[in-house]
Amino acid sequence: MIKIFPNVLSNSQGRLNMKIGYIQSSPLFGDKEQNFEEIKNLTSNIKADLIVLPELFVTGYTFISKKEAESLAEDLEGETAQFLTDISQSTGAIVVGGYIEKDRQKIYNSAMIVSKNGVIGSYRKIHLYFKEKMWFSPGDKPLKVYDINGIKIGIMICFDWIFPETARTLAILGADIIAHPANLVLPYCQSAMVTRCLENRVYAITSNRIGEEIRGDDHFKFTGKSQITSYNGEILSSAPNDKSFIDVIEIDIQKARYKKLNEFNDLRNDRRPEFYNSIVNQKK
Ligand code: ACM
Repeated sequence: MIKIFPNVLSNSQGRLNMKIGYIQSSPLFGDKEQNFEEIKNLTSNIKADLIVLPELFVTGYTFISKKEAESLAEDLEGETAQFLTDISQSTGAIVVGGYIEKDRQKIYNSAMIVSKNGVIGSYRKIHLYFKEKMWFSPGDKPLKVYDINGIKIGIMICFDWIFPETARTLAILGADIIAHPANLVLPYCQSAMVTRCLENRVYAITSNRIGEEIRGDDHFKFTGKSQITSYNGEILSSAPNDKSFIDVIEIDIQKARYKKLNEFNDLRNDRRPEFYNSIVNQKK
């Protein structure tokens, strides 16, 4: 038996079992202490290999000025990085969670990936939604897959789902699992993730939040229903739409590496990039 993550099992049938989960929380705008406390309580009895937290889980979402967002921003040595390192230590899991990233004069809507030893990396959301465009700079780094002890984890954030190129790129880079922190306000994503996973044969963990924020001219109701979607489009876990929630399930990573649908069709090899690559890569 090979130990990869602490809880990952590989047996003679070639399975690579891994415990993955999400936390669905209810952030209070601007109250970092309370938001950390909620996550700490929700994870107190949890052991897993990978846990995903929502987008901006520690700050809330509905800013009324860029200055306000800046005042809640952190770098990769800030309190959120330290907090997620602690959560990684207590759960045994690699943890992915959203935060406002400050880098020189810019702020980004980002998600960091953290192990018990600290921050591994950070993804800056490339497709900003609505007034996020007023507060954040768009992501300026390429999509990336993290190879952590042989498990390949890609990250995208919330509205990135509506651009199929995002999940596609992560899949072609070799992702087994897409970690997807979210603050969803539209009702389509959970269904769309079935297609994203099916067309790429990858797992996805969409970690959403619940609750409402009424700030400035904006009123958002977050849709909950965090979801783990399987490589074959099956919904393996679905949270309620109105409660903080946590779930951890076991999956076989090897299934996401087998891209054959039947003896004739392989979803990776059957692609015909010579016919569509140039169009997809053009902006207009
Ligand atoms: C969103 O991207 N948070 C809607």
